[in-house]
Amino acid sequence: MNDPLIDAATLVRQNARATFSKFKVGAAVQDDTGRIHTGCNVENATYGLTVCAERVAVFKAISEGARSFARVAVVADTESLTPPCGACRQILWEFCGDVEIVLANLAGKTETLRLGTLFPRAFDASFL
Ligand code: THU
Repeated sequence: MNDPLIDAATLVRQNARATFSKFKVGAAVQDDTGRIHTGCNVENATYGLTVCAERVAVFKAISEGARSFARVAVVADTESLTPPCGACRQILWEFCGDVEIVLANLAGKTETLRLGTLFPRAFDASFL
């Protein structure tokens, strides 16, 4: 069955600026109103300033006023489904909580899991 969140992440992946790694990623987050916010990875010649697709999507959503999130999709062209990196897990945890994460590739393979499974015992504002 078609999932509009995966479709959105697959589409935005085409905009990735993966000049150095050639590794294109698309992400989409759905807020509690149902609106979908998308992001792709944007690389930089200094490498370290690269921003992952997930963080672009979350920051775009926050910037549009979204505050509560239901689901996140991550799409890459890998046989073994690509999970969010550590930095993105932290950002996703802080802004989306224990959200549902859908991993998908271009061949239609998908896996759904919760962020808490990928990122147990997170540090967050509750410790401050
Ligand atoms: N990347 C993402 O955008 N999301 C992920 O989940 C994994 C990695 C990007 C960062 C960099 O542009 C490229 O993929 C290779 O690491």
